[in-house]
Amino acid sequence: MGTILRKAFLEHVGQTSPSPMMVEVARAEGVFFYTPEDKPYYDLVAGVSVSNVGHANPAVVRAVQEQAGRYMHIMVYGEMVERPQVEYAVRIASLLPDPLESVYFVNSGAEAVEGAMKLAKRCTGRTEIISMRRAYHGSTQGAMSLMGAPEGEEWKNAFRPLLPDVRAIEFNSFDELQYITERTACVIAEPVQGEAGVRPPVDGYLQALRRRCDEVGAMLVFDEIQTGFGRTGEMFAMLKYGVTPDIVCLAKALGGGMPLGAFVSSRKVMDLLTVNPTLGHITTFGGHPVCCAAGLAALDYIVENRLAEQAEAKGALYERLLSGHPQVKEIRRSGLLLAVELGSSDKMFAMMEMFAREGIMSDWFLYCDTAFRISPPLTITEEQIHDSARIIRACLDRL
Ligand SMILES: Cc1ncc(COP(=O)(O)O)c(C=O)c1O
Repeated sequence: MGTILRKAFLEHVGQTSPSPMMVEVARAEGVFFYTPEDKPYYDLVAGVSVSNVGHANPAVVRAVQEQAGRYMHIMVYGEMVERPQVEYAVRIASLLPDPLESVYFVNSGAEAVEGAMKLAKRCTGRTEIISMRRAYHGSTQGAMSLMGAPEGEEWKNAFRPLLPDVRAIEFNSFDELQYITERTACVIAEPVQGEAGVRPPVDGYLQALRRRCDEVGAMLVFDEIQTGFGRTGEMFAMLKYGVTPDIVCLAKALGGGMPLGAFVSSRKVMDLLTVNPTLGHITTFGGHPVCCAAGLAALDYIVENRLAEQAEAKGALYERLLSGHPQVKEIRRSGLLLAVELGSSDKMFAMMEMFAREGIMSDWFLYCDTAFRISPPLTITEEQIHDSARIIRACLDRL
């Protein structure tokens, strides 16, 4: 049965990679997923920071079932008053600093980034967009245009022409802030760079970025798609660093395991999408009521179980358990988002093979294949951290 399914997967499911993992998933619970033979895998990726409250979280499953039974899709986004959407928007606004109060729900991270770019252009009347080198903001043509040069060229070159008037500066370079000028509509940055291989900001950088944007009247957009919902040790990384953007993009853990994205700004700014032209952004499924119900249940679970507060100590425990190993060159970390640097892609891929046999799910980063990722559900226990770190160390011993 498994062989037939795998063959059909390769023949009929559109493929993105020449070497997919090909592990068949039968079910998932907590920090584990299981194959049909009931082999458990520690999920140390969590769908790339999606499953922050763990797989099959009963609170989320209940919310999905209840809302699916009540109503699903009724009408394109923004016309009807749907309770799960309204309640979730109110809740998100209550956790974000002022003036981030108006939540525009969409389907995905890339769509949230598209919305943020459109809003910044509409608000400033300018066209230039500045992103960071080694940034990843999504794979639609607009979001892909932001993949910082020259590292992003491999992806962008095949699909040109992309968005004009986009330039990239070096994350953490104070010198390069001078390229943000009166021409700039917005600067978009991940407060902690994810696919660059976990690169936290150096002291004062995000503050200096904020100041420069204010000086020249450019909007600051934070992409918290990977860092949001407790991953870095605060509910949002912007709270950790004390810098408030004009627009924030959310997705991944936003939906509690269901597909959901959002961009959030002040109401005054957001309202610009309703005039000249009206319907400045249209999305059919944005803010789907089942996804909003799931996301709200997940967010409540994070708050009630103090998962954000615990992420720092859990990440520090992994760091302590792995950092002394002679194969580990460096650990870059923000909360429970870790890149374990081996200094060699051959070694990293050898680890992936051993991980697959030993029941560990990890991966590498778009711009960094010399390090492997540890970003498990935030619900992981101390005991599970010790146990998974023991397996990882045994694999490192065999390198
Ligand atoms: C920081 C960041 N922004 C945007 C995206 C794109 O999100 P999506 O895949 O939902 O379009 C990702 C996805 O990995 C991401 O990590």
